Amino acid sequence: MNIIGISALYHDSACCIMQDGRITAAAQEERFTRIKHDRSMPYHAFKYCLKSAGLSITNVDLIAYYEKPINKLSRQLWSGYDIEKGELKNIMDPYRPNREIREILGYDGPIVFINHHLSHAASSFCYSGFDKAAILTVDSVGEWATTTYGYGNKEGIKLFKSVDFPDSIGLLYSTITSYLGFRVNNGEYKVMGLAPYGNPIYVDKIRKLIHMGDNGQYTLNMKYFDYITGKKMYSDELIKLFDESERIPESKISQFHKDIARSLQYVLEEVMLEKAVYLYEKTKLENLCMAGGVVLNCVANSRILRDGPFKRVFIQPAPNDSGAALGAAAIAYSKIAQNELKVKKLEHVYLGPEYSSREIKNLLDATSIIYSDYEYTSNELIKVVAKKLAEGKVIAWFQGKMEFGPRALGNRSILADPRVSSMKDKINSMVKKREAFRPFAPSVLEDKVREHFDIDISSPYMLLTCNVISNLNLPAITHVDSSSRIQTVNEYTNPMYTRLIREFDRITGCPIILNTSFNVRGEPIVMSPLNALTCFINTKIDCLVLGNFLIERSNNSFTLIKAIIAKSNTAVETKLDGRLYSFI
Ligand SMILES: [Fe+2]
Repeated sequence: MNIIGISALYHDSACCIMQDGRITAAAQEERFTRIKHDRSMPYHAFKYCLKSAGLSITNVDLIAYYEKPINKLSRQLWSGYDIEKGELKNIMDPYRPNREIREILGYDGPIVFINHHLSHAASSFCYSGFDKAAILTVDSVGEWATTTYGYGNKEGIKLFKSVDFPDSIGLLYSTITSYLGFRVNNGEYKVMGLAPYGNPIYVDKIRKLIHMGDNGQYTLNMKYFDYITGKKMYSDELIKLFDESERIPESKISQFHKDIARSLQYVLEEVMLEKAVYLYEKTKLENLCMAGGVVLNCVANSRILRDGPFKRVFIQPAPNDSGAALGAAAIAYSKIAQNELKVKKLEHVYLGPEYSSREIKNLLDATSIIYSDYEYTSNELIKVVAKKLAEGKVIAWFQGKMEFGPRALGNRSILADPRVSSMKDKINSMVKKREAFRPFAPSVLEDKVREHFDIDISSPYMLLTCNVISNLNLPAITHVDSSSRIQTVNEYTNPMYTRLIREFDRITGCPIILNTSFNVRGEPIVMSPLNALTCFINTKIDCLVLGNFLIERSNNSFTLIKAIIAKSNTAVETKLDGRLYSFI
């Protein structure tokens, strides 16, 4: 039974393939097209899934799409009528998903459309390994629902209550994100990172934006918002409330902005915690599964885990709409399997494209790049790289299958020594160019995590934060409030990366490595060796490890290659991603 799951046409398009109840491949379209948050029908990700599974399109039994376009249309019709102009706007053609699956993917078999929040709910519960669990989904908006409460067991998933558009804690967070001069659906993470620098002195004002109700409900005070008309996220009333104009993007961040971010984060956690308590009271279940874009807020997740009533929490590693593709596939599969939920626990998210040593070597050999070949001596490679990390070098680390979801988890990562106080600035100046206030995250050996971080569970997907309690000084991965967003690593899910951190621990006594995604600001994480090489050449990263091959900047002069890339970047990319690998 081969089922394709798809999320598309809003943001973060993705495709996965489920074979007999197990996800065997999944990827976001942005990685192939190099367009961040690409929303188009995931043609390339679909092709990849088929290729990875060794199937042709005729072997696909069913495509499951992550929402019901007609339901979405009814919400858009409700909110999209411009009274002044007397016209409808921002309306998606409800036949478009079906049409594009037929015309762009070339598929003529059966398609099922799964409710948006049911897809989110299933994306968490069906892969959690729990027999039964309460389920909380929170996003900006899908069809009508913005927050849902439910539970799952082997008989299926029941969402028994929802909060509906325009009331949305996700849109409240996005509205303030926009007011603070960051992009909606992209800058929320920055607001969360900015929050610890502020004081929660505007909590009372933010509370005016939302009225907490009974039975899991809440309402937004719409006089402060303008997103229904689609002109902008906030109204002039919000500016009056804060007595300050909106921040111009990229302008200086003041203490006021930090205090607003802190106050917003405070209220978000307050709402999420209260709603989690409501869900527990209704279900009395010990396990909680969460998904939806708001669940990317790892600080709020950790608050629910720490202060909430649930004993265990599972968060879908790609909780935003990209992960909903996995949920749609799971629901479709369970329907075919006579309404009994029969999917396999998600053991890891290394589900994307991988490249053979031969492919990498062919690429390198077609250039003038000087590299070291450790193809049959990976132990030696690990020793060399760990030593370089200990010497303060910044290493781009490209291995195996690309991660599914928003985080780089040791296969498409930039690595560094977390003990070096200047490392954050160094990485920012070399490659990331991102806002100085944003923290970097660490990977830590799972069997040593408790010695260094105040957490007693694993956090394999970087979706939880906790306090740093280490005796080591770890300035490069410790946020201003002493917290850190950690990834726990073990041999079972990523042996090569674990071996590297163990070697780093052996020579330094530090079982922790700084891990940030391998990309430059504004671009998706690298996917192919060519993406990796191009990113490496265009930045100042010290070394690139491509599989078992090591490229050192100090051994190379990239001047000519850089000039060629600058002159015809697209042409070079296209040409090289085909067959002919030739920079020079
Ligand atoms: Fe969503």
